[in-house]
Amino acid sequence: MPQKKPLVIVTRRLPDVIETRMMELFDCRLNLDDRPMAQADLIDAMKQAEVLVPTVTDRIDAGTLSQAGPDLRLIASFGTGVDHIDLKSARQRGINVTNTPGVLTEDTADMTVAMMLALPRRLMEGERLVRSGDWTGWSPTGMLGHRIWGKRLGIIGMGRIGQAVARRAKGFGLSIHYHNRRRVHPDVEAELEATYWESLDQMLSRMDIISVNCPHTPATFHLLSARRLKLLHETAFIVNTSRGEVIDENALTRMLTTKEIAGAALDVFEHEPAVNPKLLKLDNVVLLPHMGSATIEGRIAMGEKVIINIKTFADGHTPPDRVLEAMF
Ligand code: 8YV
Repeated sequence: MPQKKPLVIVTRRLPDVIETRMMELFDCRLNLDDRPMAQADLIDAMKQAEVLVPTVTDRIDAGTLSQAGPDLRLIASFGTGVDHIDLKSARQRGINVTNTPGVLTEDTADMTVAMMLALPRRLMEGERLVRSGDWTGWSPTGMLGHRIWGKRLGIIGMGRIGQAVARRAKGFGLSIHYHNRRRVHPDVEAELEATYWESLDQMLSRMDIISVNCPHTPATFHLLSARRLKLLHETAFIVNTSRGEVIDENALTRMLTTKEIAGAALDVFEHEPAVNPKLLKLDNVVLLPHMGSATIEGRIAMGEKVIINIKTFADGHTPPDRVLEAMF
């Protein structure tokens, strides 16, 4: 007898090939106008669905989960970060959660390094100057930035993305330093010629560039607090492609304004999509709209992972990318 297809509700538009395949495999409801769902609509979807496919733009907290219908058994999130989902409440309610790790590592690392180069070399400022029509021609002291080669890079969070950033950064002549909850395998340290700092405070006070690559969890919320940001040299640059919440954005904005920190390249923001308006006025920042993993190849691979997780689950097996709060 053919198996009944699970009712899958997808909260945002996904690449066409993924939506097409989902429609073949599942009893699937898509969000064709791609507007983020209002909380009431999200709850409505969770009341009906057997499987929900949310993204980072959906807030699935304890209150939302308490209103889920009895059929909701799987939240197959489209993305790696799961800080928008209350994992503990989901587990307590017997709702499985999966994510899409691995497939966006290289794209996110590429973007991180692009931002790391753009910031000290003033790439965006130069571009703005040419577009403004105010460029009067080359000058020996025009648009001077700072050299990248030979500087010290401190990576916060040496997981998959942190390591991929380190691998690339080595090629640009940066020395690699990192802080992580656990020291990585000696072979990885040897390959990356990476120095481990058990103390984040000590690492911060000695680096030229900081890259934030840890997940956002209760333990990493405002990890870069006002106190810690003050440990940085005034010549230091910060790059964040992780989550805005890891940095105290107000404190960072203040310190960028007063030039206590040289610059920041931010792809993520604490109250996304809102951006502190004071940041918009600064020249020593690169501001991007959460596009670290935004490649068509990456998004299709993420969609494939979502499909595999749902299909495996629907077939009665543990989905490959099951997430538990103990992992963070
Ligand atoms: C995703 C991300 O595009 O996967 C993540 O954790 O931050 C992004 O790159 C987004 O979260 C999709 O939900």
